[in-house]
Amino acid sequence: MKMSDFEKLFVNNTIRSRQVSHYAEKMLKLIGCQAGQRYLDFGCGNGASAINLAKKYPLDVTGIDIDADQIRLAQASRCSIPNVRFLTVDGTRLPFDDARFDIVYTNKVTHHISNWLEAVTEMVRVVKPGGHLIYSDLIAPIWLADIGQKVMKQTGFPTSDGLETLFNRHQLYKVHASITPLHCEVVLQKS
Ligand SMILES: C[S@@+](CC[C@H](N)C(=O)[O-])C[C@H]1O[C@@H](n2cnc3c(N)ncnc32)[C@H](O)[C@@H]1O
Repeated sequence: MKMSDFEKLFVNNTIRSRQVSHYAEKMLKLIGCQAGQRYLDFGCGNGASAINLAKKYPLDVTGIDIDADQIRLAQASRCSIPNVRFLTVDGTRLPFDDARFDIVYTNKVTHHISNWLEAVTEMVRVVKPGGHLIYSDLIAPIWLADIGQKVMKQTGFPTSDGLETLFNRHQLYKVHASITPLHCEVVLQKS
């Protein structure tokens, strides 16, 4: 689901773009990387973090996002950096072969996707066995999630239909547990 114009103002500002770039780099350093590895930024938004990594590391970086406007921003910022590309794609139907990527990274995206488990399934599908899935999204105590969902729905904020499930920490851990047997490591940021 695309972001509202209001949310885009928040997400696309320079300070936040710098913060998410630093976060992605911190996560990458945690798992380490090798030259030529394929890195997917799932729900890359304005592409700031994908571009930062492509500049600094010899990775082959792809950013995907469902919102063509966000991808246009990313392409405009990309300049002529050769090892990064951006595609307008619905993350629940990735146009990539199985095991295409060494690293799949997603930050604050799945709460925008109604069928978010399909998105997670796609992320897992395109990670190589032994590769890494760096998954980060919002989790909150269930009482807070219940209130948050009601408020957000009333204000027309785009959220996952299953937000009450998504924001349930136990459910999220269950999803992660089901990923682990596929040899993907999950780095979960609690926020
Ligand atoms: C809150 S923004 C986060 C952007 C970026 N990951 C960051 O950390 O700044 C959520 C992003 O998810 C994208 N998105 C929502 N639904 C999507 C889907 N089904 N497939 C791909 N991207 C999606 C939105 O367009 C938006 O750019």
